Amino acid sequence: MADEPNNHSKPRPGEPSGPCIMVVFGAGGDLTQRKLLPALYNLALQKLLPEKFAMVGFGRSEWGHEDYRTKMTESLQEFEPGGVDANVRSWLLERTYFFKGDFNDPNAFKQLKELLEKTDQERGTEGNYLHYLAIAPEFFGTVVKRLSEVGLVDESGGKWRRVVVEKPFGHDLPSAKALNCELQNELHEGQIFRIDHYLGKETVQNILAMRFANAVYEPIWNRRYIDHVQITVAESVGVEMRGGYYDQAGALRDMVPNHIFQLITLTAMEPPSSFDANVVRDEQTKVLRAIPPLTEQEVLTRAVRGQYGEGNEEGKKVGSYRSEPRVNAKSATETFVAMKLAIENWRWADVPFYVRTGKRLKERITEVVIQFRRVPLMLFQQTAVEHLSRNRLVLHIQPKEGISMEFEAKVPGPIVKLEPVNMDFKYADYFKESPSTGYERLLYEAMIGDATLFQRADTVEVAWGVVQPVLDVWAALTPRNFANYGAGTWGPKESDELIERDGRHWRNV
Ligand code: BG6
Repeated sequence: MADEPNNHSKPRPGEPSGPCIMVVFGAGGDLTQRKLLPALYNLALQKLLPEKFAMVGFGRSEWGHEDYRTKMTESLQEFEPGGVDANVRSWLLERTYFFKGDFNDPNAFKQLKELLEKTDQERGTEGNYLHYLAIAPEFFGTVVKRLSEVGLVDESGGKWRRVVVEKPFGHDLPSAKALNCELQNELHEGQIFRIDHYLGKETVQNILAMRFANAVYEPIWNRRYIDHVQITVAESVGVEMRGGYYDQAGALRDMVPNHIFQLITLTAMEPPSSFDANVVRDEQTKVLRAIPPLTEQEVLTRAVRGQYGEGNEEGKKVGSYRSEPRVNAKSATETFVAMKLAIENWRWADVPFYVRTGKRLKERITEVVIQFRRVPLMLFQQTAVEHLSRNRLVLHIQPKEGISMEFEAKVPGPIVKLEPVNMDFKYADYFKESPSTGYERLLYEAMIGDATLFQRADTVEVAWGVVQPVLDVWAALTPRNFANYGAGTWGPKESDELIERDGRHWRNV
């Protein structure tokens, strides 16, 4: 179908969305319990849900409405550690329903339609539906097709109907293209909201605010002043209970074409001419188009993979990846990736972007490091220019949330001696709010129909195109040295070598 703009009248940001029903497919699943229900509760708490609202959970369990409400109460208790306001919870529970059905059963969708129409009558939700696919990706196409067959994505008569699609969006370029086609057969692009929860994080959104709401950064945000950029998304946990999925996916698919590329594009994009969804996403996509896919030879020298062996996490002994539940005992799946990427445009030519991500690393840390060039000439006799540390701007995404700037200062005393010091902004010091999971903002944006924080079809495909050569070479060459890093370390030694070959170092804390 054509890429039609979504031209329903939008509520202003900060006001509740218009009347609607949110239909959650995968209502009993982990994502729904951990993220979506708490996010809905928080939106209700902030009065960002409309009075005319309902939530319908679609799942396979033998539950009635009341059972589901009890389940929801338990989830909120578990995943809202700050406690729950009983009035807000009751408000939400009153509007919660459960529908038992099977994705493969066309009849189930006919009955779902009846329930939604009845709920429209009772709750005044006006036939506006946000379908949220919190389900295994192999069902995305089927569910959308079934919804379409019974008219549940039909927007005629001024209604809006949108579909939120969770990741993973495909597992390589051909499958992502096929999925885009499948969805676009039933929906126009303005109805599809491909989620990447990194875009819901305050600190990620703040990259744009920092760059484009302050005059000081933009003049130096280029190859003349910046030596290189490092992006680290390190997790200290292992694969936990997701071995079945992860062993098929691996670190590259799981983190790079999505979360890491969001961080790259927001850091590297040109200023958009407005914050219109398509204008911002055009600029992000242009960055990805400027990353030349690695050649086969470059994959060998610029991409590093690793898998964790036994080791320690916070002083406790932990097992290897291959010993995790539902992981093949001879698995060749990577749990760590590091890459050196280039962005070939006028702003970034010759400025390498080093990225790395992995499980069971030493610390949980997500950060973007902007490393500036050295001063051209040293005026302070006591310190040779090469001993001077360079200015570094660090965007702390999580768990620390803030921005810090490292620079040289004179140590007090009669001798001129320099030492690096730190200027540190922490969110918590200024804004006394607890960080949100990101899902609140994304759900709200989908309800008001603003797609800026969601991935567009072409962006997803370009991103897969960048990583495809690495997937291909790695699939063809079985790694012989796995496990090649110990749990609780910063990854394989090849990752250090990748950056040290260029005379640079990872900023390990
Ligand atoms: C998910 C990945 O998309 O992001 C997980 O599938 C990963 O493997 C998670 O752990 C990281 O998200 P966050 O918000 O904890 O950084």
